[in-house]
Amino acid sequence: MDQERLLRELTEFLRIPSVSTLPTHNKDCRAAAEWVGAELRRLGCHDVEFLGSETHPVVSGKGPDVPGAPTLIIYGHYDVQPPDPLGEWTNPPFEPAIRDGKIYARGSADDKGQVFCLLKAIAALPRPPVNFRFLIEGEEEFGSTVLFDLLKREPQRVRADAVLVADMSYVAPEWPAVYTTLRGLCYAEITVRTSKTDLHSGEYGGAAPNAHEELCRLLSRLKSEDGKINIPGFYGPVKRPSKAELAAWKKLPFNEKDFLRKRVQAKALVGLKKYSVLERLWALPTFEIHGILGGFTGEGAKTVIPAEATVKVSMRLVPNQKLAAVERQLAAAVKRLAPKFVTATVRFLHGADPAQIEVDHPAFQLLGQAFKEVTGRATVPARAGGSIPVVPALASGGAPVILTGIGLPDDRLHAPNEKLDLKQLWDGIEVFGRFYELLGGAGRM
Ligand code: BES
Ligand code: MN
Ligand code: MN
Repeated sequence: MDQERLLRELTEFLRIPSVSTLPTHNKDCRAAAEWVGAELRRLGCHDVEFLGSETHPVVSGKGPDVPGAPTLIIYGHYDVQPPDPLGEWTNPPFEPAIRDGKIYARGSADDKGQVFCLLKAIAALPRPPVNFRFLIEGEEEFGSTVLFDLLKREPQRVRADAVLVADMSYVAPEWPAVYTTLRGLCYAEITVRTSKTDLHSGEYGGAAPNAHEELCRLLSRLKSEDGKINIPGFYGPVKRPSKAELAAWKKLPFNEKDFLRKRVQAKALVGLKKYSVLERLWALPTFEIHGILGGFTGEGAKTVIPAEATVKVSMRLVPNQKLAAVERQLAAAVKRLAPKFVTATVRFLHGADPAQIEVDHPAFQLLGQAFKEVTGRATVPARAGGSIPVVPALASGGAPVILTGIGLPDDRLHAPNEKLDLKQLWDGIEVFGRFYELLGGAGRM
């Protein structure tokens, strides 16, 4: 492997600030799509297309046709999350830097580095007997609308023997994994209005309602201190994992104290205390506040009673919960819990249903074997707390969707100083190369 050349090429990809949620980066998203398209052509792909959007297209391509060989869809995303707070980065987020065998940049682990790994694993082999199909999207971090619409129009695009998604991490260093569930997501903005305009807090304070105060009270009614979410019907479809699954989690190298000390780096964990931390992270829904807007937040001091306050929130959903039902439940709960004199509105930004994947298809065995041969340990089944909106749609054609990845739990996805360990990348290129060979050797499934 020519590691120097590969690092140069990965750096080029990571330098493109393809932040999908910010319209100011539309050109950059397109540039990242073009980078992927050029790479697919270098791999000998035909029918390389940019679909569904000028600025955030799905990049689709077909590898050289190998009659009779299995078809493998490779999914990934070239978009990234916003890099702020910029001050906390050691190197600028779009100027990749290598320190201690790790490459630091936004997108290094989520997901450009992993897309790079899947593609370079193909380039490293003579020509694996697999019909590769690529779906690399540019809106994963913003709800995957473009790819959803494409798959609705052209459902045959998910017809395959298997789908490979490398957008996750090992469960722990040296412990590669395949994931049996992903949480879904319901992202919303709640706005509270209490009066026609802002008011002088001396003239009116003590008698006029305050939008921020009402919003805070509403939020504390929606979720109480013990971590319970008070939205009627919300927990209804949630099932506890089986005894066997809970027992299997106990054997994973996960320690609640280390998780608090080394990963969360806070003073205490919160949430529903009667469930283990893994159950809270993997099998229970959440309600998080992402940010509160409105009122006076500028420099200095302004004595004002704000008339309006908006909060951005999201809920993670677990198997059997449905996005559409949760949207209705949240809207109804806000209406019920806001006082009569307050106008409260809910706007839904994007979302995803949860996904559940059976991992008994033979393709999972082959991936496990590839990991075992290269890294010394096969994959273990685990669940994921994060979301990949389009996974249920990828599974809708009946092909097994293999959720795996080469990241590590401390990669700091979506946070400052995101990184990818280069050893994980080099191993990953070998692992996926071996997987392609094994899959090709196994024939159609
Ligand atoms: N790669 C992540 C999903 C992920 C992270 C899965 C960690 C498992 C473990 C993905 O890029 C992501 O961040 N998805 C968003 C989706 C959302 C914006 C619709 C997420 O989970 O917040
Ligand atoms: Mn991702
Ligand atoms: Mn992400």
